[in-house]
Amino acid sequence: IDIFKNSKPHNCAFSELPKDKGYAQKEGFRFFMEKEIYEQAQVVTEAMMGRVIKGGKIKFDELDAAMFEGIDEVVLCACGTSYHAALVSSYLFERIAKIRTKVEVASEFRYKEPFLNKNSLFIVISQSGETADTLEALHIAKKAGLRTLAICNVDNSSIVRMAGSVILTRAGIEKGVASTKAFATQVMVLWMFVVYLANLREVISARMNSAEISAMLHIPQILKIKDGLQDKIYRMSKHYLHGHGFFFIGRDIFYPLALEGALKLKEISYLHAEGYPSGEMKHGPIALADSNLFTVALMPKHLLYEKTKSNVEELAARDAYILAISPEEPEIADDFIKTSEQSHAMSEFFEMMIILQILALEISVRLGNDVDMPRNLAKSVTVE
Ligand code: AGP
Repeated sequence: IDIFKNSKPHNCAFSELPKDKGYAQKEGFRFFMEKEIYEQAQVVTEAMMGRVIKGGKIKFDELDAAMFEGIDEVVLCACGTSYHAALVSSYLFERIAKIRTKVEVASEFRYKEPFLNKNSLFIVISQSGETADTLEALHIAKKAGLRTLAICNVDNSSIVRMAGSVILTRAGIEKGVASTKAFATQVMVLWMFVVYLANLREVISARMNSAEISAMLHIPQILKIKDGLQDKIYRMSKHYLHGHGFFFIGRDIFYPLALEGALKLKEISYLHAEGYPSGEMKHGPIALADSNLFTVALMPKHLLYEKTKSNVEELAARDAYILAISPEEPEIADDFIKTSEQSHAMSEFFEMMIILQILALEISVRLGNDVDMPRNLAKSVTVE
């Protein structure tokens, strides 16, 4: 039988497939970093799956609660972006879990002959689980007999194998050298762990516990990027291609977020950027303020808004160029990105985090840099 006998001719159009294998993996995004920024709502949901119980408590099946008995201090140790996640959580550990908390840069910790207290819980944070300095810090803490916990994205990595206990962050493979979604899940898991520990220590009220849990469950919503946001940041990014540097400023948990915003920008744009606590500018760096100094001000409504505002005014009075990120526009802003009104500071945190990531990305694109593989950097730093 001739099956083609009565068939009609078809007009087929052919087009050449992109030769770059990464194109398919990028799912239509220009860069892995961009795709990973957009994945954050999803991965943060995964980080909470089975761990954040609506109307209930935080549960980590992978942890044995007995391990935390008698703990009177938390020491967090990490590098780079993971160090910034540690800094964010240090505010939460003290405020919510009411426990003394220290944060250490792993490359410093390993040589400082640290004084270690047997009742400390030693937490290392790492996306790759292979960072040499963090691995060595973990080794030192273990040798000293401390209880250790790793918060890590890669199962079966060296850090995961060495740590006493592990919480996986479930961010999925992160390809962009500039970490984005791994950071979001690290902060999320640390926040969850803080509330878990606060419950074990019986220092959190039922009201606060449920407020924290409902705030957590709201984060994936916050991480969905609103229409027009990236376009607005793209248009604004042309203002930031020159000048003699950036100061990212914030207070409280927005200070480590400022550090992270500055790190993202310098990694992929090669522009000089620093993160600073807003209230510290007057102790020196304000001397740099002039019309060529860019200030990116993180001004959440629910955390010291008036204090940060007066720090920003001091910079504006010296003619610094101000980009304010806030639900409320300060009069002195040259550029303004409006965030939504939120009742919890962590919601404001995650919304601002996305804005800073996109800002770094768009500036880097305009400068013609390789966003996913910036010069001089490797995805994981397995040597000293
Ligand atoms: C993040 O954008 C950096 N590429 C870098 O600072 C990184 O966070 C640091 O090297 C630590 O890596 P880790 O989380 O894999 O340990």
